[in-house]
Amino acid sequence: MPANKKLLVLPGDGIGPEVMRQVRRVVDWMDKRRALRFEITEGLVGGAALDKHGVPLTDATMADAQATDAVLFGSVGGPKWDSLPFDKKPERGLLRLRKEMGLFANLRPALVFEELADASTLKREIIAGLDIMILRELTGGVYFGEPRGVTALPDGTKRAVDTQVYTTPEIERIVRVAFELARKRRNKVCSVEKANVMHTGVLWRETATRLHAAEYKDVELSHMYADNCAMQLVRNPKQFDVIVTDNLFGDLLSDLASMLTGSLGMLPSASLGAPDATGRRKALYEPIHGSAPDIAGKDIANPLAMLLSFAMMLRYSFDLADDADIVERAAKTVLAAGYRTADIMQPGMKKLSTTQMGDMLLKELDKLAA
Ligand code: IPM
Ligand code: MG
Repeated sequence: MPANKKLLVLPGDGIGPEVMRQVRRVVDWMDKRRALRFEITEGLVGGAALDKHGVPLTDATMADAQATDAVLFGSVGGPKWDSLPFDKKPERGLLRLRKEMGLFANLRPALVFEELADASTLKREIIAGLDIMILRELTGGVYFGEPRGVTALPDGTKRAVDTQVYTTPEIERIVRVAFELARKRRNKVCSVEKANVMHTGVLWRETATRLHAAEYKDVELSHMYADNCAMQLVRNPKQFDVIVTDNLFGDLLSDLASMLTGSLGMLPSASLGAPDATGRRKALYEPIHGSAPDIAGKDIANPLAMLLSFAMMLRYSFDLADDADIVERAAKTVLAAGYRTADIMQPGMKKLSTTQMGDMLLKELDKLAA
């Protein structure tokens, strides 16, 4: 009997709870059919936590996150909380989890499902078969750098400061993850910064180059300025394998890359910490799409990114490749059979609600496990 796997589920706001509901059904299915015993705690984050407790993440939930094997995260934010002061915003809940759990490595795959190659706004030949990995540094850079803040000036105007800061060890550990990932893929890393205008960019490039020469000569390393990378991603995305970049550039480039695939509603992500003495990493899995308040509560959101985030969790946190495979295969089969949620709807396909997509997935899982 394998030990229980501890899972903290944080559905959050907007479409988070409704897509999470479908994934919970799949978790229950796994529990029954594959004898994976999950010990699940559910908590509040973002606006949901603000409404109940006055903070976007309570200390108790933070402690739960530190103690669990993996966090499954929905989405946070919405117009209801937009006018709150900066430190109370729902997004702070997510940023606190990332920072305090030390989740410095954010894996954002951009993968085109063959069935959806026509849903992209780019031409099929540019994106068909695309499989790239954006590796975003997640606990440093301008998101957390000090000093930061707004000060009032004597003349009545204001001055705002954010600080972009990186140290050698911070760059080294994320670039190391990039090389390791590349070795299991197509063995190419493109390191992205703006060494032409930023000191952090110069240090980033130096550090990547040095680590490459010392330990990863077998991997092909190239460097690119972030603005050029944005252009190249649209011009010829298949030139890339792993892209490693800082927190802010990674935020931008991963949104860009996600749209190459035709649907934000399809893309999962994993955020990982450093391995501890036993090799275990703290981890949080979340879909790339946000809370999508405009469609929340209508049962039309696409649950597949949330589902595929759960599959990533099975793979990276629990080493359950077979179980991850079966989840991913169920998603692909449902798409291949012509079922779509509204966001990826195409002519001639059958449109499903969020719940109906969950139903189809469970049916497919039953077949795959039979
Ligand atoms: C993301 C989001 C977050 C970020 C927000 C919600 C704070 O855009 O995960 O990409 O900027 O990192
Ligand atoms: Mg973003």
